[in-house]
Amino acid sequence: MTLRWTAIAIFIVPLWAQHGSSPTVNPYSSADHEQAGAKLFRGQCAGCHGPNGTGTGAGPNLASGTFLHGGSDEALFRAISKGVPGTSMPAFALSGLQVWEVVTHIRALGILHDVSQAKGDAAAGATIFRANCSRCHRVGDAGGLTGPDLTSIAARRSYAELRESLRDPDAVVAPQYWSVIATMATGQTVRGIRLNEDTYSLQVRDETGRLVSLLKRNLKSVALDRRSPMPSFAGKLSDGQMDDVIAWLTSLRSEQ
Ligand code: HEC
Ligand code: HEC
Repeated sequence: MTLRWTAIAIFIVPLWAQHGSSPTVNPYSSADHEQAGAKLFRGQCAGCHGPNGTGTGAGPNLASGTFLHGGSDEALFRAISKGVPGTSMPAFALSGLQVWEVVTHIRALGILHDVSQAKGDAAAGATIFRANCSRCHRVGDAGGLTGPDLTSIAARRSYAELRESLRDPDAVVAPQYWSVIATMATGQTVRGIRLNEDTYSLQVRDETGRLVSLLKRNLKSVALDRRSPMPSFAGKLSDGQMDDVIAWLTSLRSEQ
């Protein structure tokens, strides 16, 4: 047992050392990091890679989603921090955080390119959104709170992911959207998103948006439902209508 642990420890240390203690998956990918990366990109990279990253004679397209030197977070990190030896791609003396921020921006460029596959009609999409989505989703400062704010969703999700969200919302559901089904001692049930929980009580937002506080001693059981509160739109919206909505969500991003 002791022997095996020693062997593992020896194996791990050189791996970390080799990568300069940097994580292999980008830990800095929020909208704020993307914006900081965009600024660095305009200042230091756009001259060769173009303002939208689509390339110039002096540097290749970084927005196509395919990379010569590997498209993983780690490979992009390496190309930017170490340069590409034997080419005019220089090594950049940026901090680890800054390099990750630029990687986040490069990803957003690729997603934007990819989302442009949505050949829909954005104006029609706005109408479809108001009728089907805004009771649960905010955009700008209007809309419901059951689902996430979608104002900048097209900067964070690819076309394929957005299509999947509409067709099969249960495929990926973040834990904060799991619902609880609380059955009271009286047999009455309350279903909603779990907002908070302590030793004695449970706070949920029910399907009508009401905040409900439940005392645990009054509950018979609590079940967790990992399915999305969002209904699938497969069969309810045509492929063309889904493209319209995605085109509209994408247009919000480019207005920013
Ligand atoms: C002086 C011009 C120049 C500047 C400035 C420059 N690059 Fe490059 N970059 C290149 C060239 C040329 C290549 C292609 C290298 C090759 O042929 O493999 C490249 C390649 C890359 C690659 C690898 C692409 C692939 O397909 O794997 C990435 C990522 C990259 N650059 C990011 C950046 C970022 C981020 C910046 C700014 C911090 C930047 N570059 C600034 C010229 C430049
Ligand atoms: C009954 C409320 C409800 C309705 C109606 C609804 N959604 Fe959602 N939606 C949610 C919830 C809750 C989530 C978060 C859980 C999940 O990922 O499924 C979500 C997630 C999403 C996501 C994924 C967000 C992410 O971060 O990846 C997208 C995109 C989305 N909805 C778009 C739409 C669109 C477009 C419509 C209208 C055609 C719509 N939703 C209608 C509740 C709703």
